[in-house]
Amino acid sequence: MRTPFVAGNWKMNKTVAEARDLVSVMGKELNKIENIDIVLCPPFISILAIANLLQDTKIGVGAQNIHWEEKGAFTGEVSPSMVKEFCNYVIIGHSERRSYFGETNETVNKKVHAAIKNGLTPIVCIGETLEENKAGRTSEVVSSQTLEGLKGIDAATAAGIVVAYEPVWAIGTGLAATADDAQNVHKNIVRKSLTDLFGEDAAQKIRILYGGSVNAANAADYFTREDIDGALVGGASLKTEDFVAIAKAASK
Ligand code: PGA
Repeated sequence: MRTPFVAGNWKMNKTVAEARDLVSVMGKELNKIENIDIVLCPPFISILAIANLLQDTKIGVGAQNIHWEEKGAFTGEVSPSMVKEFCNYVIIGHSERRSYFGETNETVNKKVHAAIKNGLTPIVCIGETLEENKAGRTSEVVSSQTLEGLKGIDAATAAGIVVAYEPVWAIGTGLAATADDAQNVHKNIVRKSLTDLFGEDAAQKIRILYGGSVNAANAADYFTREDIDGALVGGASLKTEDFVAIAKAASK
């Protein structure tokens, strides 16, 4: 049995003051929900404030990115050891980082290794673009993102990581993948690739989240599918009522 997992990816939203306001309300509600792992991923600058607010709760804090080096001349970057003072999780390889900031399967792999070395659980994002989807390349793209992004990890460690399938065409568009289509990708492409990499045992333990226009109304449907273990939520994670409803649906 995989424990359901819901993460809120705030992206570049909320000032520190706004972040505090949101979490002082949302945190209390989220903390009442049982049998689920919930993680909030605010911008770097709000991480300390949010980690303080959530320190006596079950809710985890994650960063949205890390560099793979420990320290040095990398202006504007944040290292895994800096993040781990306040976070247990880090989102790696989000499609916005891949498309706007040049991240590749190779840099994703370096970051995944750096995260693991520092005791951070990576939430590794994969997913095909609309163009790739239309060209019938979903399987090829998603399996190579999985195989290349996660190579070189031992099976026991891999069992604890989190993978998020987020079709790029579904992110922030309101055009969510259907639960059936997402289940199909999770089972036949993502979990199959994970099995090829780590073996059946570890692959069955890895949580695979769906992301892309998940909201309070459509969330429950995803969680009825066997290989959809939770959600990575963008826009709807910025609203208490919506994000709490999504987390409750996942916990059932
Ligand atoms: P969305 O974003 O829920 O706003 O579509 C999801 C994500 O990018 O992680």
